[in-house]
Amino acid sequence: MCFIYLSQSMLLLRTTSSSWRRSLDWNRWCGNMANRNPQIKYTKLFINNEFVDSASGKTFPTLNPTNEKKIADIAEADKADVDHAVAAANAAFKIGSEWRKLDASTRGKLINKLATLIERDVEYIASLETLDNGKPYGDSVFDIGCAVDTFRYYAGWCDKIHGNTIPADFELFSLTRKEPVGVVGQIVPWNYPILMLSWKWGPALATGCTIIFKPAEQTPLTALYVAALGKEAGFPAGVINVLTGYGPTAGAAIASHSDINKVAFTGSTQVGRLILAAAANSNLKRVSLELGGKSPLVICSDADVDEAVEIAHGAIFNNHGQNCCAGSRTFVQEEVYDEFVKKAVAKGTSRKVGDPFADGIQQGPQVDDEMFNRVLSLIESGKAEGAKLDCGGGRWGKEGYFIQPTVFSNVTDNMRIAKEEIFGPVQCIIKFKTLEEVIERANDTSYGLAAGIVTRDINKALIFAQSVKAGSVWVNCYDAVVPQVPFGGYKQSGFGRELGEDSLKEYLEVKSVTIKMPYKI
Ligand code: NAI
Ligand code: MG
Repeated sequence: MCFIYLSQSMLLLRTTSSSWRRSLDWNRWCGNMANRNPQIKYTKLFINNEFVDSASGKTFPTLNPTNEKKIADIAEADKADVDHAVAAANAAFKIGSEWRKLDASTRGKLINKLATLIERDVEYIASLETLDNGKPYGDSVFDIGCAVDTFRYYAGWCDKIHGNTIPADFELFSLTRKEPVGVVGQIVPWNYPILMLSWKWGPALATGCTIIFKPAEQTPLTALYVAALGKEAGFPAGVINVLTGYGPTAGAAIASHSDINKVAFTGSTQVGRLILAAAANSNLKRVSLELGGKSPLVICSDADVDEAVEIAHGAIFNNHGQNCCAGSRTFVQEEVYDEFVKKAVAKGTSRKVGDPFADGIQQGPQVDDEMFNRVLSLIESGKAEGAKLDCGGGRWGKEGYFIQPTVFSNVTDNMRIAKEEIFGPVQCIIKFKTLEEVIERANDTSYGLAAGIVTRDINKALIFAQSVKAGSVWVNCYDAVVPQVPFGGYKQSGFGRELGEDSLKEYLEVKSVTIKMPYKI
């Protein structure tokens, strides 16, 4: 998840050939608005519209990946806190509750209000996000703009969710009602903290569910702040609950809770399996999973090579490669391969790494030491397995979890770097001959989240788009994720869809009501 973005701003955020309007006025948000030391206002669990300590009193540290130092101690939720939050969410969902009695249009107004409050506090929230996650400040501002757009998109849906009347057989009159599924658990990763929050809260609130949300342990700060904004916006107590804590404890307690009706998860395939098993072994709650990827981006020989290099660079390097739909297998047709590699290496070498609060920086640190070490070890495997290291290939600097933008060419399909999700700033360039061959190789993976093709030939684009097994296909662009369009995976990239109209049904039950008429008319 992430977004194609625009190069119009003074922020030198990311670069792409496309641009479109965002709800924030970009020119106002330059890097010097960033606050490197934002006051940490909330560190406790948010349950029933109050900030409370965890039942155990335990806390965990959240670290700044730029300097590896502690930012704050955060309340650590466990099963007892999940029980507490679920009780609040259940009470808020009861028939006759304030939340259930709200007009659908009023729910929309509340979501719009929340979007406006997020926009009001964009500088503060962006500073928190950059401090906790390490992404460049401009990228944090961008993510917040996208989160605002996402909330506004869902605000518009609230009073447009309705069922059908059905021409039933016999003397029956039938209609369907679309009802909220109930209390939903939502567990998200650290790569787009506020954006993932908006993707999860948006459809849950639009449909009238109540929420138990667990941010990733690496990045708890913005979710706690936005929870406070939810209260300020006027959401009734118990509708939004935020539990900070670890996966195997708080996360597992959410996945296995028998009073949670649905779990939406974004993260690793490995944990996705655990969530599904926990649902199966508890109350058969509904599950939607958005897992990893190893997405192919195919550059055809008819493409404008300079433009293709730009697209491919953004596809893998945005967000430091920490992107589930990153274009992490760059397939380049043999006629333009050498030219492409040369230009891609020049582009990779020019990428600006450093203090994510500084102006013009495109890449900050990876999120934590675990991810940092994992990416470095995959880079080592690429060297050992015979890929050609064209630039980067190691740590950047001496402090923080920075990794040099790395480009490998002469990558072959059997190498670990071509098969495993690296989740780091590592471009793997692979040669291909024909479209038929590359489609087969693109599909030869257990993942199926996204795919892209750069070509001037509409026929190639259409054949690729229809043949590739992936939930999102981008033609002459990449990461073009917008609130209106569904997003999600084939195969082991998960199931269920986020964003767009399709996301709503993940949060809805369909009830049919059949009424016997006195006679056929
Ligand atoms: P993860 O899947 O372990 O963590 C994601 C979320 O799940 C976090 O909130 C975590 O606390 C929670 N979690 C962990 N174990 C859990 C459990 N047993 N029950 C319930 N919740 C649990 O991902 P992690 O460790 O941060 O990254 C590992 C790999 O996953 C990455 O290298 C990357 O390949 C992939 N990943 C994919 C993401 C995506 O957007 N699809 C995002 C983050 C990671
Ligand atoms: Mg993990």
